[in-house]
Amino acid sequence: MTKCMANFSSSIFRQQFPILAQFVNGKPLVYFDNAASTQKPVDVIDCYQHYYQTSNANVHRASHALSSRATTAYEETRQHLKNFIKAKHSKEIIWTKGSTESINLVAQSWGRKNLQPNDEIVLSYSEHHANIVPWQIVAEQTGAKIKILPLTSEGRIDTTRLEETIGEKTRIVCCGHISNVLGRINPIADVISFAKKHKALTLIDGAQAIAHLPVDVQALDCDFYVFSAHKMYGPTGVGVLYGKREILEKMSPYQAGGEMIKSVSFEQTSFNDLPHKFEAGTPNIAGIVAFGAALKFIDVQQLAALAQYETNLAQYCFAQLSQVPGLCFIVEGQPDIPVFSFTMTGYHNHDVAAELDSQGIAVRAGHHCAMPLMQYLKIDGCIRLSLAAYNSVEEIDNAVLALKKMSRQSLANDADAMTNDELGQLSLQNLQQVEYKASEVGNKIQITDTAHSLNVDSILALFSKAKSWDSKHREIMMLGKKQSGLSAELKTDQSLISGCESKAWLIHQKNEHECYIFTGDSDAKVIRGLISVVLAAVNNKTSEQILTFDMQAYFNDIGLLQHLSPSRGNGLRAIVNKIYQIVEE
Ligand SMILES: Cc1ncc(COP(=O)(O)O)c(C=O)c1O
Repeated sequence: MTKCMANFSSSIFRQQFPILAQFVNGKPLVYFDNAASTQKPVDVIDCYQHYYQTSNANVHRASHALSSRATTAYEETRQHLKNFIKAKHSKEIIWTKGSTESINLVAQSWGRKNLQPNDEIVLSYSEHHANIVPWQIVAEQTGAKIKILPLTSEGRIDTTRLEETIGEKTRIVCCGHISNVLGRINPIADVISFAKKHKALTLIDGAQAIAHLPVDVQALDCDFYVFSAHKMYGPTGVGVLYGKREILEKMSPYQAGGEMIKSVSFEQTSFNDLPHKFEAGTPNIAGIVAFGAALKFIDVQQLAALAQYETNLAQYCFAQLSQVPGLCFIVEGQPDIPVFSFTMTGYHNHDVAAELDSQGIAVRAGHHCAMPLMQYLKIDGCIRLSLAAYNSVEEIDNAVLALKKMSRQSLANDADAMTNDELGQLSLQNLQQVEYKASEVGNKIQITDTAHSLNVDSILALFSKAKSWDSKHREIMMLGKKQSGLSAELKTDQSLISGCESKAWLIHQKNEHECYIFTGDSDAKVIRGLISVVLAAVNNKTSEQILTFDMQAYFNDIGLLQHLSPSRGNGLRAIVNKIYQIVEE
């Protein structure tokens, strides 16, 4: 890595984030999921607690000391934020609960009133669902149409093609400052000025940019800018809508209730002034006050040096990831912020994330709330590593090493590689894997059981030898690898297990003794493994035996639940629920 800037020490910065000192799955936590949410410094955590210990009261309403203290802290944050994004007036800062709510507010309040049939709303292919679905809803309500800006091969909005999409029917252009998947800074200045030529408004989704770039809303001259506090070291449940005052003045309230009114009678209600007109009900006062602490925390950093450190990290990480065999970036070139999205040849994205998680490395796999982008790039999903200034070169090296190890273990020799190491001494080799084969005979599905040896006892014996989570995880993967799977025709909507983040299917039949035989499949090996674990407990049993079996105790005995990531835990529960649903029918 090129030399770090003199005034920024990542290790000192990191020490301010207590959560990062922990071990996960026996390894020091490497937190590479910052695009989803950053960690919180001790100042923010303390401020939150201090607020409740010293100042908690409702804002703007009571004439007593605590309320006035709470109101001051609350409004000071608004003032601070106004300066932070260089807005003209604090009335232009509306508190919401996140970027999502800010966009919904504009879509419903501005869009519902101003859009007409055949008006056009312009989005880009790289938008987060939060900047797509609210517009789809308002388009349906008003008859407006949605048009999409194409991207360059590097994943930025293609400014050479703006006029294909933005024209005289365009009423609003809504796009991300930086995509949460691609990590590219979009040429929003060009997009905004092009939109202006056509008298269209602009909404910029700054959810990813705000933690990485200085933002000056007046210089940008956008009409709306939205972001969330939790992606910039602040608490969850706080978001910002910046809007130009003259536009906000003309918009109707989004929600109604206390705080947003001047006077109410049964005959007539008059609305409060900005910004309160858009802040119905009791807001997230503690969160907003603690967000103030996050802004102060950012202010005292040497921001130019911090940004340079992040740039260096991005360069280093890109260079290292580029050397992992089989790793394919989803777009060309190096990202502008340290957000890397890729797939690994021979691996399901969720299996890569699960393997990294077993080594304490937190990354995200899936569609990243950007399904239309996945369709545009013709991929099912990807793995994303997103870094912050508390991450280090050593952490990148750890992740890259783990990925290189995975890429060496191609699917074909995966099992062999594992049986050769200490984990290979485990007894899976001695177990005869259940091989329920499913086939369609005429219109009927037939499941034939070719062996029965995988049952509760054999699973417990298998996992009792796997002491560490690492070993248990490998056993699950091996079970997944050995599972025979389902043919494409059997993977139907009916057999799909809902609630599982990866795609998974389950089919069943009853034998002559009224016992159930299930078999399943998933596109993720780890879920296939979990299906095997569950099926070992239910196959060849009657519905009564299945419903009275203590599944929770079984999982506890295996030592499974405490280690599974929430999405995997949900996947496991979804498999079990589907089985209960079937046998209760
Ligand atoms: C680009 C982008 N827009 C919008 C959102 C939604 O943010 P929130 O869930 O905080 O409302 C996210 C969250 O990941 C994002 O990355």
